[in-house]
Amino acid sequence: MATTKHTSKRASKGTSKPTSQTEGETPAQPEVDPDQQPATLDDCRRCPLWANATQGVPGAGPRRAPIMMLGEQPGDKEDLQGLPFVGPAGALLDDALVEAGVGRKDVYVTNAVKHFKWTPRAKRRMHKTPAQREVDACRYWLDQELESVGAQVIVALGATALKAVLEDPKSRLQDAIGKVIEHGDRLVVATYHPSFALRAPDPETRHRAYAAIVAALQDAKKLAQRRK
Ligand code: URA
Repeated sequence: MATTKHTSKRASKGTSKPTSQTEGETPAQPEVDPDQQPATLDDCRRCPLWANATQGVPGAGPRRAPIMMLGEQPGDKEDLQGLPFVGPAGALLDDALVEAGVGRKDVYVTNAVKHFKWTPRAKRRMHKTPAQREVDACRYWLDQELESVGAQVIVALGATALKAVLEDPKSRLQDAIGKVIEHGDRLVVATYHPSFALRAPDPETRHRAYAAIVAALQDAKKLAQRRK
């Protein structure tokens, strides 16, 4: 486990969803207020993603957990159930946790972006990668979770999570994998997003990505034990 230091480069509440339009009408714009300080996710209008999501999906896990796993954004199933990582990516993550010997009681699971961003294809809602400005807007919620959970070790699952936790849109997953990054008083371990381990075109890549996720979780467990 090589350790590197990372320095940060970070530099009217609406209540209703836009109503459906009739033909010829200008599409309704979702209410957005980037400076809003909402008390609840339901009230969040900091970016437009709230408008097409079923609900905001908060993190889940013990109130104080030594490890936080950070994903990108809820998927279709998470959006419907209101819980993070309950779909196929979550099942893979559960297997990886078991294989790495990390108990669920030791991890808090959340996402960099709390609303599902999607685009329609036939009858399905297809995942769309959130824009950096949406990740930045959602940092409001991540900051609160980092503070309240107090995890010393953050496992960033994929590039969006890595950029979000390091507050650096230029950070690259390939440069971070296999390293432990010091960020403020926390340690960040970066690995592949579970969806990559599920959907990479060839079995060899899927296998390697899964093994890397397990290895990252094992590293996180060791680091968290040292920080106790
Ligand atoms: N992918 C994520 O990044 N997060 C989830 O909660 C589900 C799938």
